[in-house]
Amino acid sequence: MTKVTQSTSELADKYLMQTGRRLPVTFVRGRGCVVYDDSGRQYLDLVAGIAVNLLGHSHPDVVAALSRQAAELIHTSNLYFTQPQVELAKRLVELSFPARAFFSNSGAEANEAAIKIARKWGAKNRDGAFEIITATGSFHGRTLAAVTAGGQHKYSDPFKPLPPGFVHVDFNDAAAIEAVTTDKTVAVMLEPVMGEIGVIPAAPGYLKRVREWCDRNDLLLILDEVQTGLGRTGRWFAHQHAGVTPDVMTLAKGLGGGVPIGATLANPRADVFEPGDHGSTFGGNPLSCAVALTVLQVVERDGLVGHAAELGELLHASIQDLGARQTRGLGLMQALEFEEPKAKPFQNACLESGLIVNAVDDHTVRLVPPLIITAEQVDQAHELMRRVAG
Ligand SMILES: Cc1ncc(COP(=O)(O)O)c(C=O)c1O
Repeated sequence: MTKVTQSTSELADKYLMQTGRRLPVTFVRGRGCVVYDDSGRQYLDLVAGIAVNLLGHSHPDVVAALSRQAAELIHTSNLYFTQPQVELAKRLVELSFPARAFFSNSGAEANEAAIKIARKWGAKNRDGAFEIITATGSFHGRTLAAVTAGGQHKYSDPFKPLPPGFVHVDFNDAAAIEAVTTDKTVAVMLEPVMGEIGVIPAAPGYLKRVREWCDRNDLLLILDEVQTGLGRTGRWFAHQHAGVTPDVMTLAKGLGGGVPIGATLANPRADVFEPGDHGSTFGGNPLSCAVALTVLQVVERDGLVGHAAELGELLHASIQDLGARQTRGLGLMQALEFEEPKAKPFQNACLESGLIVNAVDDHTVRLVPPLIITAEQVDQAHELMRRVAG
């Protein structure tokens, strides 16, 4: 049986704001794709801290980079230069497209920066146009602008009045974007694979048509690769599957291998921030940047982008016999959608069986394991899910 110690859950009730429901387990240690609870029980982790731990738990290179940099220099603020920050920016640009980077601490902040870039760009280049077209059901984070951009009423409505300037259309409907574009439009902001709503990949040709529309109408294309970036989908960045390049790209989650970091990359056309426009005390600190550099090095050294593509196919093939009405995904970002509202009981039963999966709603279960997952672990996960699915 999974368990959470009385004191942990009671202390959480008493002292933590109750912003979400937790599953009844307290984790204390992790190694690779396995985590251990406070009774020493082990779990195979197909959630990876919500698509964060690309290299699994306590990867030796991450641990070494953390301790090395912690002993050297942890934080200085951005009043000064630090080497890991510029090196990380250089590496991200080499891996993606000609751009410059701004570093923050989370996906929401990376998107806030992108939204501010779009607004400033509109003020400079499009007579003060400020509206951003986004997809209904997308997820861009929980700050006020990001949650408004997301277009999920359950997350935004309690916080009205919301900032103006966001127009929502159905995902995978390029014609809808074209129909709502006006003089006030400044950008289109999309996830290449919608993650939080249940892993919905961009349809073939969608991003290309949106890119062309943005080019023809002088709009910025902002792609939120917070969840899809850095190898998860079997390419360094998910937009590479579609053969398009955004003007602005946001990253977070996997970048720090578990250490908080966000990044916003803007190409020369969109690179409008000037001194004083934006900032972050912690953003781009030497500790998170040194670890992120190590994560990128290990992903490259160990061929984890190709591995994610390969193991993603294996994982996708393995979830076909679990009674789902649909399975979908790209690389190691997969989902099962059940006809019946049984995603949460399925998730809970998996946890009881020693497997961590993530029910994103009543019908859909998301699988976003570390990129280092092995074929044996995919088999093991499949066997556990098959037993749970009955
Ligand atoms: C696509 C996407 N964008 C942004 C965010 C927000 O990131 P964070 O929770 O680090 O603010 C998430 C988090 O799930 C996400 O999946």
